[in-house]
Amino acid sequence: VRDRPLAGKRALVTSGPTREALDPVRFISNHSSGKQGHAIAAALAELGADVTLVSGPVAVPDPHGVKVVKIESADQMLAACLDAGALDIAVCAAAVADWKAARPATGKIKKKAGAPPPALELAPNPDILATLSKAGPKRPALVVGFAAETENVVANAIDKRIRKGCDWIVANDVSPATGTFGGERNTVHLITAAGTEDWPPLGKGDVAGRLAGRIALHLAEAARK
Ligand code: C5P
Repeated sequence: VRDRPLAGKRALVTSGPTREALDPVRFISNHSSGKQGHAIAAALAELGADVTLVSGPVAVPDPHGVKVVKIESADQMLAACLDAGALDIAVCAAAVADWKAARPATGKIKKKAGAPPPALELAPNPDILATLSKAGPKRPALVVGFAAETENVVANAIDKRIRKGCDWIVANDVSPATGTFGGERNTVHLITAAGTEDWPPLGKGDVAGRLAGRIALHLAEAARK
């Protein structure tokens, strides 16, 4: 029990970017590497949790001891998350595209000489973190979101925790100078109902380990109440 405090707990982690098709060969996406989300899935599994990792297209390897569900779009990510069954823990670390093409073309969009570029109409994607947070009786006991901010990092993340309805937010500064996106290190703030903790700069594996440890502690404390 001491080494595997999350034994018997079911955890879901989202990781990586999503890809939103414009047509069969083109898409909208972002630079998320999946490093932080995958490290969290591995850290939760190391503490004994039964982990499902729902991941967009990434170059990082599948973590050991984790069930990996590979998806492309945000709609597919949401469906895979809702399919994961009853959960104790959800950690949404994916960089979900905010928008998708309103009407993706079924055939490749052709260039026509002299014609103007095609207009791109966007539609909003579902918010997976908010959906899981507001899932009523099926809501996981602990829902953790991420906030990637370039300014007013903590204030924006405190607002986001309330707006999304999640329990904790891991806020990180992703301004280009920090090298967080795609990099190995991360400087984060953990925002809970009790307040804000500033964590020191850590490798993404250490952020994951520390977060998994905090999750185990929180669930143990909640079980004692
Ligand atoms: O609103 P914003 O994208 O800044 O929120 C970031 C947090 O919300 C992250 O935890 C991210 O995984 C989650 N999110 C999501 N679905 C979306 C957008 C964001 O789960 N469509």
